[in-house]
Amino acid sequence: MPSAAQRLSRRLRDLGRISDEPGRLTRTFLSPAMARANRQVARWMRDAGLRTRVDAVGNLIGTTASPAQPRPVLLLGSHLDTVRDAGRFDGAIGVLLPLVALEELRRRGITLPYDVEVIGFSEEEGVRFPRAYLGSEGYVGALPAAALALRDQRGISVAEALRRFNRETFRCPRFAHPRGRVLGYLEVHLEQGPVLEAAQLPLGVVSAIAGQSRLEVTWTGRAGHAGTTPMRLRRDALAAAAEFTLAVERLARATPGLVATVGILRASPGAANVIPGVATHSLDVRHARDPRRRDALRRLQRIARGIALRRGVGLRWRTTQDHAAVPCCPRLTGRLAASVRKVQDSSPRLVSGAGHDAVVLSSRVPVTMLFVRCRDGLSHHPREHVADADLGAALAAVQDFLLGLARESP
Ligand code: HGY
Ligand code: MN
Ligand code: MN
Repeated sequence: MPSAAQRLSRRLRDLGRISDEPGRLTRTFLSPAMARANRQVARWMRDAGLRTRVDAVGNLIGTTASPAQPRPVLLLGSHLDTVRDAGRFDGAIGVLLPLVALEELRRRGITLPYDVEVIGFSEEEGVRFPRAYLGSEGYVGALPAAALALRDQRGISVAEALRRFNRETFRCPRFAHPRGRVLGYLEVHLEQGPVLEAAQLPLGVVSAIAGQSRLEVTWTGRAGHAGTTPMRLRRDALAAAAEFTLAVERLARATPGLVATVGILRASPGAANVIPGVATHSLDVRHARDPRRRDALRRLQRIARGIALRRGVGLRWRTTQDHAAVPCCPRLTGRLAASVRKVQDSSPRLVSGAGHDAVVLSSRVPVTMLFVRCRDGLSHHPREHVADADLGAALAAVQDFLLGLARESP
């Protein structure tokens, strides 16, 4: 009989094979692969004794909660969407690990005196649309109207994508749980960084999640013939974007604790012998301290304006997302750290540079996060990896956390 960790590892491998793209893992918001992933994870949820449904934003929800018999409920979850050419652990661990932990408790003949709800959020990465957290924002009933107007690369809006998915006009669902009923939200996630590996520890708890801003920057110059237009007469939009991208890197390298990234860059009209008239790119800026992040954004915008003026190109600076840093709930995190210390001799506290659905859930309920060590700190990469032994450590800590809450429940 495979161990719980081996069962979890096998499911992560199986889920990691459900992709929109051949030969690599890419699963995006409301895509065919997301529908297949939801069906597979729903089967595992039912194996764990949960009733399942998919909400109007495509979130997969497995729950023991029943309106007829209201009880306190603990929420656990993470996202089922992935970045392009992703690893199989990012997000998936936070959905599949709680299911195996619940199965283990049942195998041990333990029933919890509170309800549990496991959520596989439909969109956290912000890959299809230029905004992260569409799934969890829908789950907490806070999907902003402005987000519905955002368009993917085919020009389909979020509203239209949701209308097609629901086969009716989208109405944002309300948060399903009345105030005071939710005990909290626990998200288990691979660390996506090197700290636990350097500490030679499988687990850590998250003290806070860094603030994050996402922008779409557009440079508008003038297209022209690559062979006949003298260099001094050009207004090359891609060259302006490239100069700015290097300025972003220079500022981030010079500012302690700041990370800034241009991850997507599109030039048009996109022909080798045409000077790019328009260049659009993403900008992702993060810092654990919000004033530092905001100051960096102001400086970057000033730099961008200077480049645009000098090169005679237009500049559009559009913020598509801005999330303040989020502290995790000290009470729940202290409890989680105590469970971690039953598995290893210390429980390091880390600030998460990566964003997580816990950022959005924190607007409604107290949140806590468990980090699991990953090889080389690598993530958002097909070689992302978490060892079975570390999955086992996380399973033990989560079971202890669930039992600890049970002991406290009225
Ligand atoms: O981008 C992030 O921080 C996360 O992986 N969505
Ligand atoms: Mn991610
Ligand atoms: Mn993630």
